[in-house]
Amino acid sequence: MDAEKQPLRIGLIGFGCVGQGFYDILQAQSGLDLAITRIAVKNPTKPRMLPAERFSYHADELLNDLELDLLIEVIDDPDEAFRLVSTALRQGRRVVTANKAMLARHLPELVQLQTQFGGTLLYEAAVCGSIPVIRTLDNYFIHEPLRAVSGIFNGSSNYVLTRMSAQGFGYGPALAEAQAKGFAETDPTLDMGAFDPRSKAVILAAHAYGVFLDADEVLNLGIEGIGAGDMARAAAQGRKIKVVAAVQRLPNGHVTALVTPQLVGPDSPLYTVEHEFNGVAIEAVYAGTQFLTGRGAGGHPTGSAVLADVLALQRGLRYGYTKQATAPEAQLTTELELNAYVSHPDASVLREVLTWLELPAEALRTDAHGAYAEGSVAVQQLWSWRKELRTNGIFVAREGSIRAAAPVAEAVAAVWA
Ligand SMILES: NC(=O)c1ccc[n+]([C@@H]2O[C@H](COP(=O)([O-])OP(=O)(O)OC[C@H]3O[C@@H](n4cnc5c(N)ncnc54)[C@H](OP(=O)(O)O)[C@@H]3O)[C@@H](O)[C@H]2O)c1
Repeated sequence: MDAEKQPLRIGLIGFGCVGQGFYDILQAQSGLDLAITRIAVKNPTKPRMLPAERFSYHADELLNDLELDLLIEVIDDPDEAFRLVSTALRQGRRVVTANKAMLARHLPELVQLQTQFGGTLLYEAAVCGSIPVIRTLDNYFIHEPLRAVSGIFNGSSNYVLTRMSAQGFGYGPALAEAQAKGFAETDPTLDMGAFDPRSKAVILAAHAYGVFLDADEVLNLGIEGIGAGDMARAAAQGRKIKVVAAVQRLPNGHVTALVTPQLVGPDSPLYTVEHEFNGVAIEAVYAGTQFLTGRGAGGHPTGSAVLADVLALQRGLRYGYTKQATAPEAQLTTELELNAYVSHPDASVLREVLTWLELPAEALRTDAHGAYAEGSVAVQQLWSWRKELRTNGIFVAREGSIRAAAPVAEAVAAVWA
């Protein structure tokens, strides 16, 4: 047989929600020169949809099989994923991953390994499921300066918020439903605590601004403390609560990144992004604002992004990381202010929170659901108290846009006006 007609031999590591989704899609397509030659999983006793002889229980066997043209890593263990992906890149291999937690921690090293050993890593599936946002930033907006990239990057928490607001579900039943549908990460803290969208914001910052942020330095506030009162107060104002991740570049070259619940009105494109859908707004200086929306989680949408990466690798695509060259000095800044809404069922608990956040005691309000307050808060205050806010079940949402705190405020206003 003509060697050029051989299908691309794929080693698939992980056969859970995403791995099976990718497998299904490939089975349903004809005419693709792709073959899943080997599959590695972890648990030898788990029932599978394929015969046992199709599986290996040692991913290293796939790493050592140099007949495989391409490896797909879709396991749920970020440390092991890093070991597998970095080893494959040291071998100069072509690799696809969906593991955002691993990428957010190790992206600089993974980029360096590609440069050093000539391998290629693509990871569209790691950010916003089926939405082609990384390629859009990396290839299309290759030179255009971007004001901001923001949106709903987590389908699981968006699903929970949708069920709470539209059907009046409690937080617990809505989360259980998201998990049952395969939208949630194995550890729900990652989704509900906004760690997962924070990882995605870090990845997008590398492609939008050429900066490798330390995920641990990016403020993320989740929805674990949300209650019926928060949904009712937002609805009374014609607004919805969404978890919004935002990365922005300031005129001084610094970058801001923030992931928090936000009160959004019907004027925002995020208002109608419901269930497991994600939405990303790219605010470009010359092109204006573009909005992409699509399914952000689930086996088939994520498997579709994996397939797109496999086909792109077949055509020789690599990420350019072009903006890295133009932003060598960019750093994360938290010199920001925002209008915050804070709530807790118990007024005495919230009274203490107001002192943490330097909000006046008169800001405290109570209604049938409990206590809440609104006011201008420094991001650095939220950062300092983030652990206490989480452990005490305080719900915090931002209202409206982020403002740069003095001394950069004037410069920002001049450029962003
Ligand atoms: N689910 C989504 O909607 C979604 C969306 C975007 C990105 N992602 C990312 O995609 C990745 C996979 O997610 P998932 O939802 O598909 O996870 P999952 O359903 O929990 O499946 C994980 C798979 O990885 C296998 N595995 C775990 N450790 C392994 C090891 N050391 N060697 C070989 N196989 C191993 C498991 O084996 P067993 O079958 O033996 O347990 C299982 O097949 C994660 O990084 C996740 O963040 C998921």
